[in-house]
Amino acid sequence: MKKVLITGGAGFIGVNAAKRFLGAGHSVTVLDNLSRKGTDINAKFLEDNFKGKYTFVKADIRTDNDVLKKLAAENDVILHLAAQVAVTTSVTDPRTDFDINALGTFNVLEAARAAKIKPAVIYASTNKVYGGLEHMPAVEDGNRVKFKDARSGVDEECPMDFHSPYGCSKGAADQYVRDYARLYDMKTVVFRQSCIFGPHQLGVEDQGWVAWFLIAAMFKRPVTVYGTGKQVRDLLYVDDLVDLYEKAVENIDAVSGQVFNAGGGMKNSLSLLEFLGMIDTDLHMPMQYTFSDWRPGDQPIFVSDNAKAKKLLGWEPKTDVRKGIVNLVQWLTENKSMLEQFYKR
Ligand SMILES: NC(=O)c1ccc[n+]([C@@H]2O[C@H](COP(=O)([O-])OP(=O)(O)OC[C@H]3O[C@@H](n4cnc5c(N)ncnc54)[C@H](O)[C@@H]3O)[C@@H](O)[C@H]2O)c1
Repeated sequence: MKKVLITGGAGFIGVNAAKRFLGAGHSVTVLDNLSRKGTDINAKFLEDNFKGKYTFVKADIRTDNDVLKKLAAENDVILHLAAQVAVTTSVTDPRTDFDINALGTFNVLEAARAAKIKPAVIYASTNKVYGGLEHMPAVEDGNRVKFKDARSGVDEECPMDFHSPYGCSKGAADQYVRDYARLYDMKTVVFRQSCIFGPHQLGVEDQGWVAWFLIAAMFKRPVTVYGTGKQVRDLLYVDDLVDLYEKAVENIDAVSGQVFNAGGGMKNSLSLLEFLGMIDTDLHMPMQYTFSDWRPGDQPIFVSDNAKAKKLLGWEPKTDVRKGIVNLVQWLTENKSMLEQFYKR
């Protein structure tokens, strides 16, 4: 049994991770400042299902250093998920984005460093640290784009090229987490995650587009497609990501100091137009959409090469993207009235 602190534990990935770690018999503390809209719903889910079995701490990683230090000293692992997560918000308010993502992560690391027995730190970074991938040109291929050189994905050797304040703040944090393993003999792991999707994802236009599109389809609302719609993303089902976190916890000595890309890979990649086609044809939820300009930092194609995670952790995504989308639709359907209230707020 491990003692696991999950920062951002009332968020989408956090609630899925808490559910898994609690189910596996670990001791879980969820830390969140509940700033994200909908975290009250996730917090209620945890309370309804795991009452008395976990600890919830309302705290802010920007400022509550004493709380962080106390919790770091009490736990074996910190799964650090708390973040400002929208690229668009980072552009309009780069200081808040920096404070949460860069300074907040620094605070988490310093709290861990101060502990007598230092907890391992697992950090949720992002594929956005690779920037626009201009050196990997994309060409159109029907309803999608593909890498011109036909590569199957982007590996960890790809140069970092932070683009957008979100890319910069997450990238800075990513490098701090990595360096603390080298400098301070701490156990840390960085996962550069692609698009994650699944139950408990209260997607908004700026973040969580898979759920956002499906919810729009459910309520017959139009969506905006930024760019051509041919941009390609590899989608990773949240359960598979949590598998990866679990494997990192179990094998922390072997993977400490490492950085891993983690996404659905080429076989779980979709362009926006392909996804819209799937919603229409396979899910029978035709939807209306209009096009608008590209958003800053949008990559024409990102597909993760997961070979390193497979080699060192024996991990690869298990959930086919179509199956994952059906699971998410099922969760959305089961929670339709909650979602109706939520999107009216
Ligand atoms: N969802 C994805 O597709 C994706 C992709 C790549 C990386 N990530 C990273 O994974 C992590 C989790 O993402 P998510 O999708 O669950 O996002 P989320 O917004 O659902 O969860 C983030 C949580 O952090 C909390 N939080 C924000 N600021 C805080 C602060 N100052 N102090 C304490 N808590 C704070 C929010 O209330 C929220 O509950 C983030 O670090 C994100 O950058 C997510």
